[in-house]
Amino acid sequence: MSDQQLLQIIQNSFVGKDTVYPTVNGKSSPRRYLDSAASTLMMAPAFEVTKLFLQHYASTHSKLHYAARGASEAFDWAHQTVLRFVGADTGKYSCYFSGSGATAGFNRISSEFSAQRPERNIVLVSEMEHHSNDLPHRAHSEVVHIPAMGEGPAYGGLDIEVVRALIEKHGEKINYIAVTGASNVTGALTPIHQIAQLAHSVGAYLLVDASQMIAHAPVSMKSDSLENADIDVLIFSGHKIYAPGSPGAVIAHSSLLENMAPCELGGGMVTDVYLEQYMMSEVLPDREEAGTPNIVGAITLGAVLEVLMRIGMDTIREKEIHLIDMLWEKLSAIDGVNLYGPAPGDVPRTGTMTFNLKGFDHGLTAAALNDFHNIQVRNGCFCAHPYVREMLKRELWEMDIDPNALNAEADIERKRGMARASLGLYTGEDDLLALIEAIKDLIARKDEIHSIYHPVGSNGYQHNHYSPDLASIFNPLVALEKALEGSN
Ligand SMILES: Cc1ncc(COP(=O)(O)O)c(C=O)c1O
Repeated sequence: MSDQQLLQIIQNSFVGKDTVYPTVNGKSSPRRYLDSAASTLMMAPAFEVTKLFLQHYASTHSKLHYAARGASEAFDWAHQTVLRFVGADTGKYSCYFSGSGATAGFNRISSEFSAQRPERNIVLVSEMEHHSNDLPHRAHSEVVHIPAMGEGPAYGGLDIEVVRALIEKHGEKINYIAVTGASNVTGALTPIHQIAQLAHSVGAYLLVDASQMIAHAPVSMKSDSLENADIDVLIFSGHKIYAPGSPGAVIAHSSLLENMAPCELGGGMVTDVYLEQYMMSEVLPDREEAGTPNIVGAITLGAVLEVLMRIGMDTIREKEIHLIDMLWEKLSAIDGVNLYGPAPGDVPRTGTMTFNLKGFDHGLTAAALNDFHNIQVRNGCFCAHPYVREMLKRELWEMDIDPNALNAEADIERKRGMARASLGLYTGEDDLLALIEAIKDLIARKDEIHSIYHPVGSNGYQHNHYSPDLASIFNPLVALEKALEGSN
């Protein structure tokens, strides 16, 4: 089977891609899921692998019966597959799974790196970061934020010269640099190997948040073209790469992980325990994976990564670039749409597009796209508040709103945000054309839309009359009854 054939099969294989939802006009239709930056849909063949594994399910902490041996081997395979996927030399790097996403990894690494090198108390963190790759560093070190390029709505992408200047200024005080591989707000990609090289010039490490990059562009720990530019630590969430329910993955130089004193204690990470003392395992990843791990999720993730390697991340990236360019061009041409982030021609981007419709609060846009057009997008500041407010500041000033006012009223929060359409492997041109037509429709019916919605909470909107019974969409107890009937 060719890469392209496999890609086509996989694109049509996602669980829940075509789930039918009701719309305001009394009809119903398959949804258009454009919220992949928040979380991706499950890749069905990987899910099948998981279901087959469940036939043999056992804990990896049991050792001798057949099922436990199979589970241990499969769990080990999942670690090795992650390492292969990010081009990590297994002689140099190790991988461990933690938490339900990337956040646990950032917290662990930030606390450990600051404890290991207290004399280097500065961490450079880009202004585009998701809070999960910003706040943990603030908790343990002095953070100096790296401004992005440009200003206003086009703000985004890192200028290597700005990073260089900060490195020259802070030198060996810098413990590490933390940057996102791709922004969760604009998809702007970061030149990670160039930054790694600069970091290493003063003995600092580079930590890359690959949560938004991992499913969209090839990632390699190793630089093929630059000297001394390998990534030291890379962290991502499995649920952002078609494996909902899988853990976060941390890939790091084994030498760094070996120097970390385990912070979570319990079963699986000790070799022996006496009443007076205990001996911690020297083996990676065991010493970082206390307790019974998320074996099932890790195996799903391993299966997804294997499929993506067979398709080729270059092929996936190429397809996405075509969609991003098309979406950017068509949305830019619509009067009444504000687009954010650098143009894809200026800074390469992944398939994440943030926008506002003039005269619409971001929550109204998201609600109306859902209710009328069955298009599912996210709205708000996407856990990247400083970055979003920087891009919005001119618009907010024009409305007499201080972008950075603390504890703003709900009415102001309703203005301080954007709508975000984000792509996955299952997103087709038809989904984006539907989004474009839906946006035109909302703009054309602006007054009517305003008259039939009212604000709720700090960033939401609710149709005045239309309110489908959410329990009829999914209710775990109804689902359970059906499952029980089925097994009768
Ligand atoms: C860029 C980025 N980093 C980190 C995270 C945090 O990931 P998780 O919530 O899976 O821990 C997210 C999630 O939205 C993200 O988009």
